[in-house]
This record gives sequence, C-alpha cells and structure tokens, in this order.
Amino acid sequence: MKKYKHYIMALLGATILLSCGNQNGKSASNGALNSSNAEKVYVAPGEQDEFYAFMSGGYSGNLTVYGLPSGRMFKEIPVFSQFPTSGYGYSEETKPMLETSFGFVPWDDSHHPDISQTDGVLDGRWIFINGNNTPRIARISLSTFETEEIIEVPNSAGNHSSSFITENTEYVVAGTRFSVPVPQRDMPINEYKGNFKGALSFISVAPDNGRMNLEFQILMPGFNYDLSHPGRGKSHGWFFFTTYNTEEANSLLEVNASQNDKDFIAAINWKKIEEYVKNGGGKKMPANYAHNVYDEHTHSATSTMVKEVLTVDPSEVPGAIYFLPTPKSPHGCDVDPTGEYIIGNGKLSADLTVHSFDNMIAAIEGKKFDGEAYGIPILKFEDVLAGTVKSGGLGPLHTEFDGKGNAYTTFFISSEVVKWKLGTWEVIDRKPTFYSVGHLMIPGGNSRKPFGKYVVAMNKITKDRYLPTGPEMEHSAQLYDISGEKMELIYDFPTHGEPHYAAGIPAELVAPKSKKIYRLADNKNPYAVTSPDQARVERNGKEVHIYMSTIRSHFTPDNIEGVKVGDKVYFHITNHEQDFDVPHGFAMIGQNTSELLVMPGQTKTSIWEPKKVGVWPFYCTDFCSALHQEMQGYVRVSPADSTIELSWSLGD
Ligand code: CUA
Repeated sequence: MKKYKHYIMALLGATILLSCGNQNGKSASNGALNSSNAEKVYVAPGEQDEFYAFMSGGYSGNLTVYGLPSGRMFKEIPVFSQFPTSGYGYSEETKPMLETSFGFVPWDDSHHPDISQTDGVLDGRWIFINGNNTPRIARISLSTFETEEIIEVPNSAGNHSSSFITENTEYVVAGTRFSVPVPQRDMPINEYKGNFKGALSFISVAPDNGRMNLEFQILMPGFNYDLSHPGRGKSHGWFFFTTYNTEEANSLLEVNASQNDKDFIAAINWKKIEEYVKNGGGKKMPANYAHNVYDEHTHSATSTMVKEVLTVDPSEVPGAIYFLPTPKSPHGCDVDPTGEYIIGNGKLSADLTVHSFDNMIAAIEGKKFDGEAYGIPILKFEDVLAGTVKSGGLGPLHTEFDGKGNAYTTFFISSEVVKWKLGTWEVIDRKPTFYSVGHLMIPGGNSRKPFGKYVVAMNKITKDRYLPTGPEMEHSAQLYDISGEKMELIYDFPTHGEPHYAAGIPAELVAPKSKKIYRLADNKNPYAVTSPDQARVERNGKEVHIYMSTIRSHFTPDNIEGVKVGDKVYFHITNHEQDFDVPHGFAMIGQNTSELLVMPGQTKTSIWEPKKVGVWPFYCTDFCSALHQEMQGYVRVSPADSTIELSWSLGD
C-alpha cells in the first residue's frame, strides 16, 4: 500500500515537473507563429466561422459557444447557474428551472455536452449537458440557444458518465460517479461494500419536441461509473461505461481504489433492457426528483416533482450486461465511428486498451466467461481485446476520431495529443499541449460522421500562455489543424470555467435555424401586454403587478405612484420590438435580484420589495438606441399606512 502511494506521488510529481518544464512553451510551440498558420485561424472582419464549438463551462455551471477556427466566444448559455447577464434563474419565469429535490440550487458543475443525432449523424436540434454535483441533465435548444428542460436524476451522485446521446437520440444517458445507498438512508459509511449501488439512468428524448423522461435506471454494483459512450452502427443498442473503484473502497481512494490490476468497462445492451421494461419488467421505487420545463411561448418554466422511478436489477435480465476487464482505473470510454472499437485507458498506464465489439459478441456467444461480479459475467481480457496502442505517453484520458481511420488521445501527465491508427495501432504523430490536457474535441467526434478538420485540446493548466490575471487564470484551449498527416498547432484561446469536453458542429447545420426574434403575436405569457394600451398597474393586497411594455426608447408606464413599503412589486416586462438583436433591459435601484434582459417579443418578470420611502428610479440596462440613456422611469414609494391610490402614467 505504501509502495503504491509512492508511485502515485511520483506520477503527480511528474505532472508538476512537466508543467513547469514546459514554461518555455513559446519556443516549443512548434511553428505556430508562422504566417500560413495565422491564415488558418484568421476569420476576417464580417466573415463567419466554419464550426460552432459548445464548450462545457465546468464550475461555471453553464455552456459557452465559440466559433472555430477563430476561438471567438459568442455566447454563454446559462444552464445550471443563475446568470445576471440575462436574468436567468433570477426572473420569476426562469427560477423554476433551478428547482431540485434539495430546493433551489443556483449552481452546478456542468460537464459533457453532446449534440442530438439522427442515424448517427449530428442533426443540430438540441444539445444536452449534465450537472455533475446535484445530478441533472439539461436540454438546450439550438434554435433559441436557451435551456429548455432540466431533469434531476434520482439515486445518483456525481452525475459524471453523462450526458451522452444514442445514435437516433432515443436516450440521453446518465451514469453515477459515486455509488450511494439506494434508496438513501442513514447507514455506516464503512458498510459501503456490497450495499451501495451505482445507478445508470436512461432518459428518453421525444423525437418531436425533445421532451425528456426517465424511463429506467439500472442499479449496478457499487463501483464508480466514470465515463460512457453509446455504441453506433453495428454496436447501436449497446452502451459502454468505464468503472473504477471495483474494489468498492470508501476512503483514500487514490490508494484503495487502485488495488485491482483491472477494472471494467460495463457493456449494457440497453435494447434488451428496454424490451424487458416494455414487457412490464423492473420495479417501481418511490423517488422525488424535479422535472423542469421551459415553454418558449409562455416564456415561462414550470417545475414538477416526480415521485417514482423504474429500477432494473441486472440479475433479472440475463444476457444484457457484461464486464470487459480494462487496465486499472480507466477514465475515458470512447467508441469509434464504425462502432467496432471501444477504447478505455487506464489513467495510470502508458498503453491504450482497445476492445473489439465483434470479439465481445463472439465471446458472449461462446459463453467464455472469467467468473462474475454480483451476477454479471466477466469476459476474458484477451478474448475482447482488439489491440494495444504502445503510446509512449503517460496518463491517457480521452479519445476522439477524425472519420478517416485515425484516433486522437489526450495524455494528462505527459501533456500531449497522440494520433494513432485504428486497426494497426501505430502511433502516427504526437504534439505537446500547454498544459495537462483533459478532454479533446473533433466536431462530430462522438458520431458516425466526424468532421475531422480540427481538434481542440482543453487544457487544465494555463500558467504562462496568456498575460497573467492574478492567481486565477482562465483555462486554455488549443486548436490543431488535423487535415494533414501531422497535426499542426495553430491557435491558443482561453475558455471559461473549466471545460470538460465540448461538442462541435458545422455552422451550416445550426446557423440557418437560429431564431432571430420571438413573435409578439405568439406570446402566451399570462402577464404579457401585447399592446402598450394594455399596460397597467394592479394591486392585490400587498402584491402590486406592473404590466409594462418597452419599445425604443421608453417604458410604458414610466411613472408609478401608490406603491408602499412592505409591498411585493412584480414588474412584468414585455419587449415590443420585433427586430433582430434589440433587447431591452430592466434594473431597479436596491433590488435584491439581478437585472433582466428581455428579448424582442418576450416577457420577463422581476420582483422588488421596496424597503425605503422615496422616489426610486429604474432604467434600461441595454444600450438600445441613441436615446437609451433616456429610457428610464420612477416609482414613488410611500409609507406602509399611506392612503395614496395606485396611479401610473407616461408623458403626462
Ligand atoms: Cu432600452 Cu436601452
């Protein structure tokens, strides 16, 4: 055990040394300064990028949108975190999006985005991303670029092996990193082994509107389920999950979960389990999890608590689940575009392990098992192995594919991307990354049809790559041109939060469908005013509802009197603009919430509880016209016992 500790410390030490050793990254940047490379990333003023890249925001809880090859950031889409830039999670309409069984949770750790697919090809309709901390899956529209739905995942903790899409977007899959008592209960932690469960959740996606529903949860042995990917082509119908801590340790995992020489990739025949469930199989278990849906027409979200989940005990569906032994504590679990190769890399090893789907099926049919774990058959390593890549790197993590028979794997410890050939396992090229790369992304890399022109490496450590900004630096991405035999590093750009994975797609599959305005005539928000003459102020006890409209450059009404200390004032603001890119904002002095940014045709509501007598101004926060600075108004606040009647006006 002690020996092990030393080994791990040595590896960690190596990371630091390599990182520090690379401080002179500039000289090692490999021709990135030559002018032909500059041209490759230069998108001239007024021109547009070839790809969208959706980068997970990690601990920002959000999803950022970039262009490739320029590395320009276009938008931060709020998903799991309150976002004052738009008022998401602050407006009354969007607060329900952040409801959970733990109450209002205004933050998460967003991880792995994945774009919807049809026949294994990106279709550009939705993008999904998981919240890792308080397990949730979000669906974001790629027409509005807004979060439309968030579903909480019960019986899960550390929602890490998520959120990956099957090839017709039948399911978005979420696997638990931590195993936990299912159902949760008060029990000694050291009774973990044999008692905790690892839930793998299959959430269906309605083909017409994308609506999610948790169809079933497989209650697996109490391992840690790290990452996953769907089968595709011939392996469509299967899903693969890496596991670590098959030791089922509950303390000092860096040592105690590194004891077994091999952990597993779990191969799940989800079609078989789907059939079992459709025939009445599985057990309904009481649960309590939030399902939050945003409606584009009411511009409002609702949160519903779901009280039941269908669970499946693997032992009741023989032939549906197998374990593929994979060297020590594998992290990434990646499937090549043909669906034949399943790649799992021991985090502490140098070699990459590639399993063969055909070999796996043959071994299953030949019933060649090497024992079992909790009733799940273990296949023999040699029987399922397709090949080993002698990489020469250290700390392999994730693999993406270019659709031309090549794979690209990141190495955290040796800080590099290695290109190798599927089938022959030969290493073709290797390039350094700056520094300590985690995920990488090729647009469409998780599909049958990758667009293998660029790879983006997402680095965990930035150090000297940019001008220093105090102790805290943004993370750094690097763009490589992979159109030739050798990779070429062509650009560095900072990323926001900590990107864990990204999803890229040709701009032409998304941009033409991007919504420009919300039609005012289609606005079904119950508090909308679709014409300025409907603007009004109403009192209901201590509640005051202000139905307000905005158009360049005034609020209707802009003078309101009769509000009292102790009132709860709702500003329901409808933006009457019907032009692309003319939002209006709203902010009230001393308000205990954020501003709102209201898009054309949209209604948003902000609450203000005035605490002081006076005449208090509000204004538009978005520079909407030459007279933006004139877009303002006043609310007169009188003492709680005042008899002043409500009144409102504009231009009187
Ligand atoms: Cu409206 Cu500034």
